[in-house]
Amino acid sequence: MHLARFARIRLAHLPTPLEPLPRLSEELGLDLWIKRDDCTGLAGGGNKTRKLEFLLGAAFEEDADTLVTQGAVQSNHVRQTAAAAAAHGLACEIILEERTGSRATDYVGNGNVLLDRLFGATLRTVPGGTDMVAELEKTAAEVRARGGKPYVIPGGGSNPMGALGYVDCAREIVVQADEMDLEVHRIVTATGSAGTHAGLVAGLAVMGADIPVLGIGVRAPKDRQEANVFKLAEETAALLGQPGRVTRDMVVADCDYVGEGYGLIDQGVIDALTLAARLDGIVLDPVYSGKAMKGLIALARAGQFKGETVVFLHTGGAQGLFGYQTEIEGAL
Ligand SMILES: Cc1ncc(COP(=O)(O)O)c(C=O)c1O
Repeated sequence: MHLARFARIRLAHLPTPLEPLPRLSEELGLDLWIKRDDCTGLAGGGNKTRKLEFLLGAAFEEDADTLVTQGAVQSNHVRQTAAAAAAHGLACEIILEERTGSRATDYVGNGNVLLDRLFGATLRTVPGGTDMVAELEKTAAEVRARGGKPYVIPGGGSNPMGALGYVDCAREIVVQADEMDLEVHRIVTATGSAGTHAGLVAGLAVMGADIPVLGIGVRAPKDRQEANVFKLAEETAALLGQPGRVTRDMVVADCDYVGEGYGLIDQGVIDALTLAARLDGIVLDPVYSGKAMKGLIALARAGQFKGETVVFLHTGGAQGLFGYQTEIEGAL
């Protein structure tokens, strides 16, 4: 895959551990492992750090002095981008979308938002449903008008350049599994803006590693999610010089666990958070990894993974828990 040809700024603590989850495995009746991308390090870790290594590489190649990006109010991507900007002396302009409609004090001020402020990012909030692509362009134009050089990062860092971070993660998983003599039957991950899922699929396809990836959706319905992931995985394989390596059947998303909507949590998510915490001491997040674990638990209990060794990709996000204190505390 020759990732060394792409500019890259090292931000993450890699490789992240691949560890067994013994008590959850026993509870759910499968051989469950966890890939600890919550331990990537930057700003408390999470999946965006891997994407940002390549996105910052590209930003520096363009001599940018300001990162511009967007996300939901409690975006983990925004937190990690703000930290990466701070660590490399770049300004950071953020647009936060009120996507969940929550005005709770914790949601708008604690968790990721508190950290965004700590890293010195400039934050602007817009109502849910705003055209965020247009907002990114508007902000970039403002930066240019005052003599700056913006580098626009799409929501979630999900473009082919960002997805290279998960091509590298796919390589890492295959190498670690080989070293441990572990035959992995499936990788399960949360799938949102699609870069994580697409990067994994593209990386495995390019390596010829026959490990299916199951994305558990957090927002869009199945058809739309799979189409987004497939398009980005194809583009990522093309960026790697291997067009046509990703086929449509490689992209599978289960979007039955979204519940009421993006960023809205339910008892199934709380149960997943508590089970992971109380059985194996793992802290998941309420919006992504908690929802993915909710799906994994339900599918395991329905017998879907019988006899399989499954790697759950922990994409991070625990900082977002502190934006949901009321909902979580009330349900414990
Ligand atoms: C903690 C966490 N997990 C998973 C995801 C989903 O990853 P992607 O947007 O690449 O699909 C995100 C995205 O923001 C995230 O913050």
